[in-house]
Amino acid sequence: MTLIAPSLLSADFADLKNEVKRLEEAQADMIHLDIMDGHFVPNLTFGAGVVRAVRPYTRLPFDVHLMVKNPDAFLTDFAKAGADIITVHAEACPHLDKTLAEIHRLGCKAGVSLNPSTSEDVLQYVLDKTDLVLVMCVNPGFGGQKFIPAQLKKIARIRKMIGEHKILLEVDGGINPLTAAEAVAAGADILVAGTAVFEGGAYAGNIAALRQN
Ligand code: DX5
Ligand code: ZN
Repeated sequence: MTLIAPSLLSADFADLKNEVKRLEEAQADMIHLDIMDGHFVPNLTFGAGVVRAVRPYTRLPFDVHLMVKNPDAFLTDFAKAGADIITVHAEACPHLDKTLAEIHRLGCKAGVSLNPSTSEDVLQYVLDKTDLVLVMCVNPGFGGQKFIPAQLKKIARIRKMIGEHKILLEVDGGINPLTAAEAVAAGADILVAGTAVFEGGAYAGNIAALRQN
């Protein structure tokens, strides 16, 4: 079954506590938290303090997507704040193997994210330390952007690379019911969606429309 991870980036920031409750009631499978630092990406969101503050209001796993320079400096903070999965960008990690080992040492699942222009080759030698691969289908920084179709080929290639490894394949950016179908056909297990989950306010219907099977 396809898993749906709504991104809090599109939530009402003044009401995050109730937003996570609503998403759980609407059958979301996990909560995707987009952390931006204004350096790795041209936007700012929130930090570990906000993650810690909303943690008590849902049982859903927290899928923390670090779009930050030098993510190693923040891993402990996000693990302590209640992250279940911590995903770092390969482009921000000169010692990716070591970073993934550190995420595991902190008791979290370790994810690797790739910008649209980054080749899947960087995954080759860290497959045994990776629990999740996150393929960005937009250039990260903002919600509401258009899905980049060239990423479908990358999703399919990573699906093949994963083979028998226990690695979840997640896609993020520009996901709507149409692109969701294409991403799942290419091999995606988890769909992150901000705009498509929150628009119109009917979260349950929106989530059901994204779930492909
Ligand atoms: C983009 C973020 C995404 C974003 C998705 O930088 O990583 O998680 O919130 O938003 P939509 O679904 O609106 O493209
Ligand atoms: Zn994200």
